[in-house]
Amino acid sequence: MSKYIIKGGNKIEGKLNIRGAKNAILPIMAATILNESVSIIHNVPDISDVHFMIKILESIGCKVSYSDGTLIVDSSFADQVEIEECYVRKMRSSIIIMGAMIGRFDYTKISYPGGCAIGSRPIDLHLKALKELGIRIEEDEGFIKCYKDNLEGNIINFEFPSVGATENAILAAVKATGITKIYNAAREPEIEDLQNFLNKMGAKVKGAGTNYIEIEGVRKLRKVEHDVIPDRIAIGTYMIASALTSGKLEVDNVVISHMEPISDKLRSAGCEIEYKNGGLLLKPPSKIKSIDLVRTSPHPGFPTDMQAQLMTFMTLSDGISVFHETIFENRFMHCAELSRLGANIKYITENICMIKGVEKLRSAKVKSPDLRGGAALVLAALTIPQETEISNIYHIERGYENIENILRGLGADVLKIEEI
Ligand code: EPZ
Repeated sequence: MSKYIIKGGNKIEGKLNIRGAKNAILPIMAATILNESVSIIHNVPDISDVHFMIKILESIGCKVSYSDGTLIVDSSFADQVEIEECYVRKMRSSIIIMGAMIGRFDYTKISYPGGCAIGSRPIDLHLKALKELGIRIEEDEGFIKCYKDNLEGNIINFEFPSVGATENAILAAVKATGITKIYNAAREPEIEDLQNFLNKMGAKVKGAGTNYIEIEGVRKLRKVEHDVIPDRIAIGTYMIASALTSGKLEVDNVVISHMEPISDKLRSAGCEIEYKNGGLLLKPPSKIKSIDLVRTSPHPGFPTDMQAQLMTFMTLSDGISVFHETIFENRFMHCAELSRLGANIKYITENICMIKGVEKLRSAKVKSPDLRGGAALVLAALTIPQETEISNIYHIERGYENIENILRGLGADVLKIEEI
């Protein structure tokens, strides 16, 4: 039960180089099961979700090593087909392993993912897609049993462009007989990275990044080496840290199309953002401008994973901003904590709220409600010249590598207190 003590008021500025994206490495780690061989992956963030996925891969018999950003997975000897309940309950996104497991084995059993703070997060679209690929599915006492009676390419038309369901369908279709055509697929950059990883293994996937993806099944995959794409959400979070504290930030290694949905909103708030030499330079606003309406939507819309952090930015703007969260039904839990810090937030409906900018925030003891909500509280604390205490930081460490040291390197006064 560790916590951060942040004494804000310092400019957050300097040069930054952020490792790979959590939401890219997790499906890629699931894909390492498919080649029955070695995968060498670089630029892997040292975050608890990665260590969790390592445990899952080891539990099915993979040999895994991780050091200094390089992950090596040897799935030659993997032979366990049941994923222990405790893993899926703790990390929802481990459900994406289902598609890879059934791509590799004739049968797999996995627990239903546990509840999640930000929403009910059903997996009906995942199961529907696997059934369309000929997988027989039995649901029994909280478990899902998948039988590979006849893994065959087919047409999958998603009623909603779910990221996880698109990834599970791709992972299962890679070794199916024939062609799979996915319509209304999710277009997130992390899916493109999964496609690139799989194709380096010898798969035939095309169209990721668009809403139509086509997969020609192959029989065998091979050893692979890959660099994970940079984490656009972590980069966006640090950009707001600088923008909020009048600091300039230079970030190495960014992908413009990945960053633009975020940069677009920061420009509306008065930031100057310039892309150059494969990186970006952010200049802070002289005055934070309010943004009339922020509506989250699937990529290339404004990402829900940046909603909380942008809300913190708007708590100190010169006017009124309205936030409409359209992806998850319970992703405003940071509002109550930000209000404890003096923000002026009013609910209009359970997923629409109005932020009226205030002069300054004030310190208090707050709790991270979830991963991105926790990051939003860290950003708020960086603007408060007294000590602010943030607890439940395990949420934050799930998706941000070494955040306290990175922030300290950019000028922040952050202390991590380990509590037994
Ligand atoms: C991925 O979650 C990300 N996680 C999330 O990031 C991100 O918020 C989300 O995509 C949207 O961008 C990972 O990549 C590991 P979805 P995922 O399936 O795949 C509903 C973070 O902070 N839905 O696109 O679970 C669902 O309930 C995390 O890094 C169904 O109804 O997202 C939700 O309302 C949080 N049935 C919406 O679709 C289904 O079968 C979007 O979910 C699947 C989803």
